[in-house]
Amino acid sequence: PITQKNAIVKERSVSVILLAGGKGKRMGSDMPKQYLPLLGQPIALYSLYTFSQMVEVKEIVVVCDSSYKDIFEDTKDKIHVDLRFTEPGKERQDSVYSGLQTNTNPSVQAIDSDAELVCIHDSARPLVYSQDVEKVLKDGWLHGAAVLGVPVKATIKEASNKSFVVKTLDRKALWEMQTPQVIKPALLKEGFDLVNRKGLEVTDDVSIVEHLGHPVFITEGSYTNIKITTPNDLLLAERILNPRPSS
Ligand code: CTP
Ligand code: MG
Repeated sequence: PITQKNAIVKERSVSVILLAGGKGKRMGSDMPKQYLPLLGQPIALYSLYTFSQMVEVKEIVVVCDSSYKDIFEDTKDKIHVDLRFTEPGKERQDSVYSGLQTNTNPSVQAIDSDAELVCIHDSARPLVYSQDVEKVLKDGWLHGAAVLGVPVKATIKEASNKSFVVKTLDRKALWEMQTPQVIKPALLKEGFDLVNRKGLEVTDDVSIVEHLGHPVFITEGSYTNIKITTPNDLLLAERILNPRPSS
């Protein structure tokens, strides 16, 4: 039985692709940033636990370098969803593709072919709320593609390469994209076929769907769902989790 109130996404119908294949160059640490401890626990495990507790989630495909597989496998006693692994690709987009492929090669495990919704998440976003995941899953189910985003608070200007202002963008129309990005698998596959055929480069997953001309719904999320990118973000995440400074 579906325990969450108002759940409309079917139980055990969602495949999560957890992206943990980056090198974290901007963090500048020895270890890729998603494995650094945040209050004692590797960053990537926060969202792994969040997804694993959701009734909609049937499996989590972790895209990571095989040398880091143990970090995830060691959680197996605590989580009750299938964990699968695939190797990352060069760019983020290649890692998503790796997680998606229902490959004919049986040694390559990727998403289950029965998945009704694919939920792609950056492991570098440990603080996503399960309530926001529920919301974006619901919108993805209704619209085919949905992404968590927050309204931009800053004034954003477009500049020329010589750093002169070209124009001020209309803030009311600007949203900062986060993850999860949620897409029906057939749509994502169709988008990838087009992107691969045309050799297009995309920075996020729903833009694959945009290339198909398919609408993408923006689900309003939370400002705390930050992406850990630089050392300062790690401090910020600690403070979000633990608001009272110990003095
Ligand atoms: N990612 C991935 N495979 C890649 C590149 C990125 O799985 N080839 C993942 C990262 O692990 C991260 C998420 O995509 O969880 C968002 O990417 P980003 O924040 O840019 O991480 P990195 O690419 O690791 O960092 P940087 O750009 O600073 O090198
Ligand atoms: Mg990157």
